[in-house]
Amino acid sequence: MSKKKKILTGDRPTGRLHLGHYVGSLENRIKLQDEYDTFVIIADVQALTTNFEEPEKIKRDVRQVALDYLAAGIDPEKTTIFIQSMVPQIAELTVFYSMLVTVNQLEKNPTIKSEAAQYNYQEMTYGFLGYPVSQAADITFCRAHLVPVGEDQLPHIEQTRRIVRKFNNMYGEVFPVPEAKISNVSRLVGLDGEAKMSKSLNNAIFLSDDEETVGQKINQAVTDPQRIRKDDPGNPDVCTVYAYHKVFNPEEEAGIAEQCRKGTIGCVDCKGILTDKINDFLEPMRERRAYYLEKPEIIKEILYSGVERARKEGEKTMAKVREAMEIDYDADKGFLAR
Ligand code: TRP
Repeated sequence: MSKKKKILTGDRPTGRLHLGHYVGSLENRIKLQDEYDTFVIIADVQALTTNFEEPEKIKRDVRQVALDYLAAGIDPEKTTIFIQSMVPQIAELTVFYSMLVTVNQLEKNPTIKSEAAQYNYQEMTYGFLGYPVSQAADITFCRAHLVPVGEDQLPHIEQTRRIVRKFNNMYGEVFPVPEAKISNVSRLVGLDGEAKMSKSLNNAIFLSDDEETVGQKINQAVTDPQRIRKDDPGNPDVCTVYAYHKVFNPEEEAGIAEQCRKGTIGCVDCKGILTDKINDFLEPMRERRAYYLEKPEIIKEILYSGVERARKEGEKTMAKVREAMEIDYDADKGFLAR
């Protein structure tokens, strides 16, 4: 088939996707889906590492994330969207990789550390501590070259590269060493202006928000706290609304900053302009979402055919892995004869 290089990336199904996901990774996937053979994983097994007590929630979110992908513009004709738990080759690879990683390396992973702190884990399950190993299997099951992700994922990509180098050195060259691709806007600030946009911090604009909700949220967004009256000079550099203008309204961003500094544009007007911009940006997504919501069986078909394609690709990889590791008993005709 295609000689294109491959992309693998994806998300945990733990809720609706928001603008931070879009600028952090979705945008790159959509841009690159023509140039690369793109695989997008809905990582339900990884979601289990922190949600094992309520697996039924994950199922609902798998559908939600798939819908967000399609609405955002991931084209199922070009991109393979699939569910992690339905591709057994990923689980198989995870077991082999577990021999190539030390517990010590995993314990030093900064993303694992900050997530463990966030969830208040006194002790970690083996599955949680080891999810970067499973993520290495996600990335390599299709022998991916490029991984578009947000900055917080870099330790996991580095871990994957270590595993791949070790595998290739020990058993022979099976995998390309994958590279991360970070977007220009690696961190989109949340509506509170304090932390990065995140569902759990309640400071997000979702891709599925309607016009009115977007307006309400932007009206409540934090601006320059020193600016009391409309004609006070403002400081755009500390303003959340201006941070969004930079990303979603690049044509007018410079003019708005100047007017803000002079006190010739008030926050209400500035927020109104941004609301329109973001609504224009989300409008085509709303149309695609409505289309898929009307025909939910299409989503199911897209996921099933994605899984089928992913399994085939996984089987190709596993054949190479078994051969390289000399555990291909099926191919070893003489093995059971004696
Ligand atoms: N860890 C990623 C996140 O939390 C999700 C993910 C799972 C992923 N497997 C992946 C991302 C493989 C890139 C490649 O968002």
